[in-house]
Amino acid sequence: MLQEIKALLSPAHPWGQQLVYLDVTDSTNNAAKALARQGAPHGTVVIAGQQTLGRGRMGRSFSSPAGLGLYYSVILRPACPAEALLHLTCAVGLAASDAVAHCTCCTPQLKWANDLIVDGKKLGGILTELSVDARTKKVDYAVIGIGINCLQREQDFPPELRETATSLLLCGAAARPATLAAALTETLRAMSQQLLSEQDALMRDYALRCITVGKEIGVLRAGEVRHARALGVDRDGSLRVRYADGMCECVRSGEVSVRGLYGYL
Ligand code: BTN
Repeated sequence: MLQEIKALLSPAHPWGQQLVYLDVTDSTNNAAKALARQGAPHGTVVIAGQQTLGRGRMGRSFSSPAGLGLYYSVILRPACPAEALLHLTCAVGLAASDAVAHCTCCTPQLKWANDLIVDGKKLGGILTELSVDARTKKVDYAVIGIGINCLQREQDFPPELRETATSLLLCGAAARPATLAAALTETLRAMSQQLLSEQDALMRDYALRCITVGKEIGVLRAGEVRHARALGVDRDGSLRVRYADGMCECVRSGEVSVRGLYGYL
């Protein structure tokens, strides 16, 4: 797998020397964080063939069966305060969607902030974890985990996900995890170079691919759902919404359900 990915990367890709492949691990984000704490450089990539404790946002698990998905984490060390990286997850979503588009006939849409969507189902997701230096207040490292379902058939998903999850195979756009890993390593590097200098352009592209914009949504907070319309995505990655009572807000975190997706009627 490792040699295959390296062979697919453009010559002299600087991250090619820093690729780590693990047959099995609990979570590539955990492995990448351990490496980051030991001083692993910007652009270190950890890929696993299987995760036994794949993690998603909001404490959820991420189904990670052997050989069927891409389980990928990268360490970035942008020398900036955490507030300058609020759009990071959106930018990664765009890079992941671009990587799928480069190796298949399909371009996933993005459900704010970080689900990859094809045919109204979830193809993958992103889990970003930041460590900030207490003294300088700058980001020490960001570990960005990306999971993409590649070769799963319906029966490969846990029963509770079968209605809402999809894979590239099920979308008629099959790609192998190694091919996708190489494409993602290219698009993520390009993204990391534009992240701070081309924030407006990145976020404009993100908004164009974001399926949430213009839709009726539910904003879930403290166990309560408020209905709203998603108006747009701001340059810091927050979702601009208007509630039924006319009040507007920029939602920065939390859970948003989109009418028509994942069984939300
Ligand atoms: C989500 O859907 O909420 C995010 C899913 C993120 C899954 C990826 S797989 C690689 C990395 N390792 C993990 O444990 N999680 C991320």
